[in-house]
Amino acid sequence: MSAGGSKIDVTVTDVVTVNELVKRFHFEPTDGGLLPTFSGGAHVVVEMRHEDETRLNPYSLMSSPLDTRDYTISVRRDDAGRGGSLFMHNRVKPGMRMVISHPVNLFSLDLRAKKHLMIAGGIGITPFMAQTAQLAAGPGNFELHYACRTGPLSTYAEELKSRYGHRVHHYRNDLGQDLPLETVLATQPLGTHIYVCGPSGMIDWVRKTALDAGWPEETIHFEHFAAPQPGKPFDVTLAVSDIKLRVGEHQSLLQAIEAAGVEPPYLCRGGVCGQCETDVISHDGKLLHNDHWLSEEEHQSGKKIMPCVSRFEGKTLVLER
Ligand code: FES
Repeated sequence: MSAGGSKIDVTVTDVVTVNELVKRFHFEPTDGGLLPTFSGGAHVVVEMRHEDETRLNPYSLMSSPLDTRDYTISVRRDDAGRGGSLFMHNRVKPGMRMVISHPVNLFSLDLRAKKHLMIAGGIGITPFMAQTAQLAAGPGNFELHYACRTGPLSTYAEELKSRYGHRVHHYRNDLGQDLPLETVLATQPLGTHIYVCGPSGMIDWVRKTALDAGWPEETIHFEHFAAPQPGKPFDVTLAVSDIKLRVGEHQSLLQAIEAAGVEPPYLCRGGVCGQCETDVISHDGKLLHNDHWLSEEEHQSGKKIMPCVSRFEGKTLVLER
């Protein structure tokens, strides 16, 4: 998807409160028919229009890829975030029309794997809802380990356990239940692939433990969307477009560039796909890199920035855009 990409007009058909932090949203195509097909792990970018502002947030599709009559996403409320999740929680109601992107999959199953070992933390369970539905419809062999803070915040744990029984292992922090990662990894058959989605600390822990245990890097898949964080406002010059703009406290740099009428490419809006990579021509401050795309050397070089999640502190930032 390039900037904007192809869009789908949808109607919100249901909004369900799942627990104190999570709501589920159902979308159907406004003009009837079926939605585009997708595979487990795909996300859509949801447009949220409010007054003069449009926010675009990526959310994993959690409905079954086998049924494209509707799409379902779950949104965890983030009171300290830039407002996208609050918009979804507070303003989106059944009957409302919205615009979403076509699905894009940056976290797909490797179907050559003999077995799929899934590890989820918190709201990171959502892509696995779709992936397990996809695998359960065929001969796919999977095992899911799901760590949650508390029972009430164990989003969809009971549903998954009742669907897939012993293939689902659930751990609650409030009961002192730890995911026995080393043991889990040590008991997998050859040809297993690992998939992890959850907080950054969990992803780093799983990747490091697996790599230290000798798992090949290409068998470890992770979904590492970084939600753009608010920060101090800063000024930017877009050299190619000859535009000066200010990035607001609750805006991402990408969002500010789009608001100025320039359309950089994007896919994930979460610092993982590389699409929005932008050259820095000059700056006199500190680039605040929040992405998982650029290497450490590229971060240090000060020559590149991922505007979907990264910010700047200083007086002058000039971008080749
Ligand atoms: S849009 Fe994917 S890294 Fe910025």
